[in-house]
Amino acid sequence: MPFGYHRDHVIRPVVKWAGGKGKLLNELLSHVPASMGTYIEPFCGGAAVFFALAGHTPRPFERAILCDQNEDLMACYRALRDDLPGLVRALRKYRYDRDLFYETRAKDPSNLKDAARGARFLFLNKTCFNGLWRVNSKGQFNVPFGTYKNPKILDEEGLEEASRALAGVELVTGDYRTVTKRAKRGDFVYLDPPYVPLSRTAQFTAYSMAGFGPKDQVKLAGELARLAKKGVKAMLSNHDTKETEELYKSFWTRVVNVRRSINSDITKRGDTREIIVTNWDVSVGDEAVVRAPGQGR
Ligand SMILES: C[S@@+](CC[C@H](N)C(=O)[O-])C[C@H]1O[C@@H](n2cnc3c(N)ncnc32)[C@H](O)[C@@H]1O
Repeated sequence: MPFGYHRDHVIRPVVKWAGGKGKLLNELLSHVPASMGTYIEPFCGGAAVFFALAGHTPRPFERAILCDQNEDLMACYRALRDDLPGLVRALRKYRYDRDLFYETRAKDPSNLKDAARGARFLFLNKTCFNGLWRVNSKGQFNVPFGTYKNPKILDEEGLEEASRALAGVELVTGDYRTVTKRAKRGDFVYLDPPYVPLSRTAQFTAYSMAGFGPKDQVKLAGELARLAKKGVKAMLSNHDTKETEELYKSFWTRVVNVRRSINSDITKRGDTREIIVTNWDVSVGDEAVVRAPGQGR
């Protein structure tokens, strides 16, 4: 039986994240099992699915593990979980100001304590162009200042809610495989990797220095199969392209039209076709197209 989520109990992510889950969220939640051992989100980013699940009583999971290779993001979640007052105090020092933005951006965050590092991260996220997180070849955040009317740098209520949701959650900074390899029968894994680009000319989103290329996508599809063999239910999202159709042809695929709002090129905002792949058979809804294993478009 899938998880019966309720819109009023969905907690919103604290960061704006490329790949954040707008409309796709309802579709994703409708496939989540009603109960599980550990909920594992190995490419958590804004963690929209985790926060949506965590707001429900009782929670559908007994334990949860969030992982991302972005060190600033994970420092922010640790600060939220372990030191909310410190994080709020550090955030109060920021205001919406161009010079402060560039001064803050130029500082190396690697030696900061979690509260200061998390506050820097939230400030940049709320005031940079489009809320994007992009890094240069040296791994330094390089998104320019954004124009907003009155950006909410400190949303105390939102942070408190997220902090409660993160209590007791294991937070891992690193590659997704460090957590998928720990999944056991009865656990549930939601994989939301950097997406395959829609066209050859489109850039991979530079979330990190290492990037996530075609070989990584192939390895990830292998991981979905490995999890199925272990009896671990896993769900994955990506763009609907020839490559992903080929990669996931032995799984169950649902195609969904999604409106995307984060794109630096305004003409490229709009509907895109995305897929939800599951490594177990899911029921069929009305509007969605489902490709069963071995079935083409
Ligand atoms: C599509 S986003 C996830 C969006 C997220 N579901 C949300 O709700 O905002 C992909 C994430 O994967 C992370 N990432 C990229 N390569 C990774 C890797 N090898 N292991 C773990 N995380 C990785 C990026 O930092 C980014 O946050």
